[in-house]
Amino acid sequence: MAFHELKDISVREYCAQKIAEPLGLPAGEVTQNFAEPPDSSLGDLSFKTFSLSKKTGKPPHVLASDISRGLKDIEEFSVEPAGPYLNISFNAPFVCSHAVRRSLGAGSFWGVSDKGKGKTIVIDYSSPNIAKPFGVGHLRSTVIGASICRILRHTGYDVVGINHLGDWGTQFGIILAGLEEEKIDLSSLGSGALRKAYEIYVKYSALSKENPAFMDKARSWFSRLEKKDPDALKFWETIRESSLNEFKKTYSRLGIEFERYLGESFYFDKTSSVLDMFAEKNLSKKDQGATIVPLEEYGLPPVLLTKSDGSTLYSTREIASALYRLSEFNPFKLLYVVGIPQELHFKQLQAALEKAGIIDKEKIVHAGFGHIQGMSSRKGNLVFLEDFLEEAASRAKTKIREGEHAQAEGADPDELAFSIGAGAVIFNDLKNKRTRDVDFDWDRALSFEGETGPYLQYAHARICSILRKAGDFREDPSLCLSLESQEEKRLALAIDSFPEHVLKASEEYEPSVVSRYLLALAGDFSTFYHSHRVLSSDNTIMQARLNLLKACKSTLSQGLSLLGIKPVEVM
Ligand code: ARG
Repeated sequence: MAFHELKDISVREYCAQKIAEPLGLPAGEVTQNFAEPPDSSLGDLSFKTFSLSKKTGKPPHVLASDISRGLKDIEEFSVEPAGPYLNISFNAPFVCSHAVRRSLGAGSFWGVSDKGKGKTIVIDYSSPNIAKPFGVGHLRSTVIGASICRILRHTGYDVVGINHLGDWGTQFGIILAGLEEEKIDLSSLGSGALRKAYEIYVKYSALSKENPAFMDKARSWFSRLEKKDPDALKFWETIRESSLNEFKKTYSRLGIEFERYLGESFYFDKTSSVLDMFAEKNLSKKDQGATIVPLEEYGLPPVLLTKSDGSTLYSTREIASALYRLSEFNPFKLLYVVGIPQELHFKQLQAALEKAGIIDKEKIVHAGFGHIQGMSSRKGNLVFLEDFLEEAASRAKTKIREGEHAQAEGADPDELAFSIGAGAVIFNDLKNKRTRDVDFDWDRALSFEGETGPYLQYAHARICSILRKAGDFREDPSLCLSLESQEEKRLALAIDSFPEHVLKASEEYEPSVVSRYLLALAGDFSTFYHSHRVLSSDNTIMQARLNLLKACKSTLSQGLSLLGIKPVEVM
């Protein structure tokens, strides 16, 4: 097939096919051995022949020169053997026109694939605790989880996002007893109820430690709740509803929607069938009054199903929820975006369900993430997400005013500041592999330079501004056949590789694959823009460069949206 007929594959993949075909190997074996050449003057890509040399039985340098001889007549790229390596240089006009044709042709479907077609992934993320602080861990889970959802959808999966709210547990006893003590009627407080409930929780959980009489009251409130006493349930429901409404407001400002809010309370009724199942299969036993499932064969401590007083735990509700998700959604995977400290908990979940013969443990994936440090606001540690995002917005506003970015005409300044503030916070969470610990620093996260959200938003806004100045131009990828420079080619190669990066991010549940990619793309844009004029160049070249920039803008915009960051048009 000729190069220009290839709509759906990148020039890299095309090159891999051309190398693989004569060897009778799948193209994937070649792509695995592609690398960046040590020096860009050697080519755009280099190919290591070592591993294929074993398969073909030819020494590496012989294989390299054989392959290059076979590809002499290809127009779209040239190959030069260098010992066991092949250095590959693409033909710039072809790459530029191909990348622009692919990306602009795909429109809002740019980067979409059908890899996950027919498969459902249930993803548990955010999952804050009601009437307790929305911690930094919950923020990371929200940001990482929401991005994974978008990336999975982009690659064709059906995604069911679930918020496993911590809406059950002894903290409610403390709050209900505290409310009684203070004679507060939460239902009269409207949207203030979340903060009031939290205040009561902080005050009375401290007090309960020294005051056994109060602790007894708290216990009796929680047991009333477990027995479904109507008064207790009504108070609990008020706290839950008002907290949930507050969370939903913030989620919606961030463009996040859950398919289901199924908190721990939802499984309260379903835990007895968990106990029955393990008992029937003879897998559970009593240990000092508690019910446990031993997991020695997995090298794990036993999972606890009940405490000695018979009450169920977080882990019991976890198992109940996994069983519910399996039967309700028939998923390909159950994914949990929860901090690394809960790794053992999820290993026990996998093992217990495998031991019970319900699933293979690979069906459960714990997409864990590291700590975040230094994330405090003027009011102290992160407690309410809303406050934190407000502070990010107000700091972003100052930055916009201070810098040369004041010309944000036409945009609503508050909305713009919110988008940039949120972009800074989100990107800081997504810029590195999720398992890495991250530091947060307001000035660094909000900087318009370096590895930041605002830097990427600014690159996008700059291109928008060039396109606005250009006015109407002919959108036609074949115009790009006039682009010959190294900088244009590099930018086009980056654009062309967007779908591959989205796919990789989806396979690894790793948004940082997209964020690193966007930093490199913005870097290639900036190198191009520093060395070439756009608006004052010769008409044909100008039209061609505008096409290339439009493709770059569309890629940046699509990529930022996958991360949950708004691609702003002015800044
Ligand atoms: N609410 C829990 C916490 O704050 C997180 C829940 C995560 N999801 C789950 N299915 N365990 O620690």
